[in-house]
Amino acid sequence: MVASVDSLPARIRHRFPIFERRVYVNSCSQGALSDSVRQAYEQYLADWDEHGAPWEYWVERGDAARDTFAQLVNAAPEEVAVTTSLSAGVSALASGLRYARRSKVVLTDWEFPTIGQIWHAQEARGARVVHVPEAPDGTIPIEHFERAIDDDTALVSITHVCYRNGSKLDVDAVVRLAHERGALVLLDAYQSIGSLPVDVRALDVDFLGAGVLKYLLGSAGLGFFYCRRELVERVWPTATGWFADRDIFAMDHRDYSPATTAGRFQSGTPPVPAIYAGIAGMELMQEIGIAETREHVLRLHERLFEGLDELGATVVTSREPERRGALLCVASTDAPALVDVLDREGIDTSSRNGSLRISPHAYNSDEDVDGVLEALARHRRLLTRG
Ligand SMILES: Cc1ncc(COP(=O)(O)O)c(C=O)c1O
Repeated sequence: MVASVDSLPARIRHRFPIFERRVYVNSCSQGALSDSVRQAYEQYLADWDEHGAPWEYWVERGDAARDTFAQLVNAAPEEVAVTTSLSAGVSALASGLRYARRSKVVLTDWEFPTIGQIWHAQEARGARVVHVPEAPDGTIPIEHFERAIDDDTALVSITHVCYRNGSKLDVDAVVRLAHERGALVLLDAYQSIGSLPVDVRALDVDFLGAGVLKYLLGSAGLGFFYCRRELVERVWPTATGWFADRDIFAMDHRDYSPATTAGRFQSGTPPVPAIYAGIAGMELMQEIGIAETREHVLRLHERLFEGLDELGATVVTSREPERRGALLCVASTDAPALVDVLDREGIDTSSRNGSLRISPHAYNSDEDVDGVLEALARHRRLLTRG
């Protein structure tokens, strides 16, 4: 029998000790620590202590992480690289594109800084970077992409859910347009992965970058990069390392023969401790259920919207469920000060661009939402009234 979505936090909350002390609604920054992720780190130390240098096993753990992520996004394992961050995978891609026949990279104003910085760095290699702006209503309409994507566009770099305002992009429409015009699409799924189902085949994206730090409940140090099978050998990364080689243990310093799989987007020694933790986090999210989590979080959002409306707050994030991720952003007259006062009252949130970020996840309950709303009522003066 499938458990009711309403009972989700009751079922899993005891696995996250922070809730004994705090109201944690900051998963857009970092997921809460679970018992299984803590245990995975302990296991890493135990294995190291007991076996010394069990590299065969550690490489196998990297493969297990790749398999788990591949399953999560409906990719084949050979389409997934195990990286140390989202940036590392995207940098390997950027270093491997030629900006000759098509020179333009189109990105949006919703991108995380790392994406803009990586593409602008490619200007030194001939890339031309064009930004698609947001409209005054806070959306990025498809017409804005129509103006930017043309037959000189090599790649369109988009983000699934914006870290600053919680907006979810209409990925389907952008992918359709980009492909019609012969451009490839990279999706930054860091703010969506684990909080809602992400399927690379259904989205039809060519490349996808993500990490496990947030809604996948892992820790810093582990990322993944997906490359559509047919494209792998069309990209020749020049930012590379020995774990990108066709035969890692060939140890040939006189040759560069990148893997014929997405492994070519890897670099040096894999982040073994973060791999242990990442597997535990991803497996826990699979056990909890990502589709169920999405349903649960949208229900918590309704409660939040209701309470925020009563307070006269200005919610920056869309009211249309399809146009938002797990993150709700609330305009503040002084967002860092609001984060500080909430912190002193035992509530973990974060801020970006003048907004308070509230990002509920599977473990959050109605009581958490009510606690946040009561605290916001006490600090109403720090809310920008609509
Ligand atoms: C949308 C988005 N992209 C990328 C990143 C960071 O990626 P990296 O793993 O390169 O640090 C974050 C982290 O906050 C993010 O929210």
